[in-house]
Amino acid sequence: MKKVLVTGGAGFIGSNFIRYMLGKYDQYKIINLDLLTYAGNLENLKGLEAHPNYEFIRGDIADRQQVDQIVSRGISYIINFAAESHVDRSIEEPEIFARTNIMGTQSLLDAAKKYSVEKYVQVSTDEVYGSLGQTGSFTEETSLAPNSPYSASKAAADLLVRAYHETFHLPVNITRCSNNYGPYQFPEKLIPLMIANAYEEKELPVYGDGLNVRDWLHVEDHCSAIDLVIHKGKPGQVYNIGGNNEKTNIEIVKLILGILNKSESLIKYVKDRPGHDRRYAIDSSKIQSELGWIPKYTFDKGIEETIHWYLENKQWWLQIRSGAYLDYYEKMYSNR
Ligand code: NAD
Ligand code: DAU
Repeated sequence: MKKVLVTGGAGFIGSNFIRYMLGKYDQYKIINLDLLTYAGNLENLKGLEAHPNYEFIRGDIADRQQVDQIVSRGISYIINFAAESHVDRSIEEPEIFARTNIMGTQSLLDAAKKYSVEKYVQVSTDEVYGSLGQTGSFTEETSLAPNSPYSASKAAADLLVRAYHETFHLPVNITRCSNNYGPYQFPEKLIPLMIANAYEEKELPVYGDGLNVRDWLHVEDHCSAIDLVIHKGKPGQVYNIGGNNEKTNIEIVKLILGILNKSESLIKYVKDRPGHDRRYAIDSSKIQSELGWIPKYTFDKGIEETIHWYLENKQWWLQIRSGAYLDYYEKMYSNR
């Protein structure tokens, strides 16, 4: 049985990926290394605790000794999801983004090299490309121009991954994905935050004029893309992954209010995010033509299912919103 090290597997995308992999394959043992920061939540993996092909280890990807010890157990694939992932937090506290996202990646790469893993996949983001004007989309050849401390740390990590391929021939892939949505997303991010606030009839804070554009991808389609990259991705290659669903933020917010049958008077325009990227759009033609990736969700189906998931799993987000997250939320929005 092959061992797959998934880092950050207690977060939003990582936990969906672990469910996806255990549901699809019998021949992989999944080892989940996660520090359980504010964003890591073992509730996301409920029901898998006793699964024979699953093991959880609490730890830090930047802890070189711990990472070395885990990878020395004969890991075939490393999929690095672990990161500080929230742009707003990176503006408040950039240092932890550099530590986890850059130094953590370096530590994983060194272990991957030392123990000759078969494939290292770096889960990156379209934000490394910066911001687009009204037309065009990011391709894998677009130059990197990150604008936030978060995206700068992800871009730095991507360059390290690239360098380990060029210098040491480490079999790597980098995936750059657009905004994900779906179950288990931490309710600081746009879609779950707006669903929860609308449900509780709290104000919906829309940054700036609400016309920034994001390209939305259902998390399950992201998981199927990563699965293909692990197994079929050509070493050294970058693959963009996008949903081809460009929406302005205000469109998303109004859509959620409409589905929940809540009043648009809950919308509150607030001070813009500094360095706020105006528009993202991803050209996914490379992964579609080279690896045969076909996303299965339309945005209409995905958002409806997602809203229902949050309504059916209120306990999950109510618990998060009543804990330490409350202090963060109050601090963030008190000065907007
Ligand atoms: P998340 O914040 O929900 O989860 C991150 C996970 O990493 C958490 O479980 C956290 O505990 C863990 N973690 C943080 N620091 C760690 C450390 N030092 N060692 C071990 N574990 C640590 O993030 P997400 O939205 O699931 O994103 C996962 C990855 O995908 C990130 O690398 C992110 O940059 C990338 N990405 C996210 C999106 C998106 O829309 N959410 C889009 C493109 C790319
Ligand atoms: O594009 C991929 C990226 O998507 C990932 O790399 C990041 O990890 C992920 O967090 C996400 O970044 P964004 O900054 O795009 O996501 P966020 O949900 O924070 O914001 C989406 C848009 O909504 C953005 O234009 C800011 C806006 N926004 C966000 C929040 C939280 C608001 O208007 N109000 C809000 O309260």
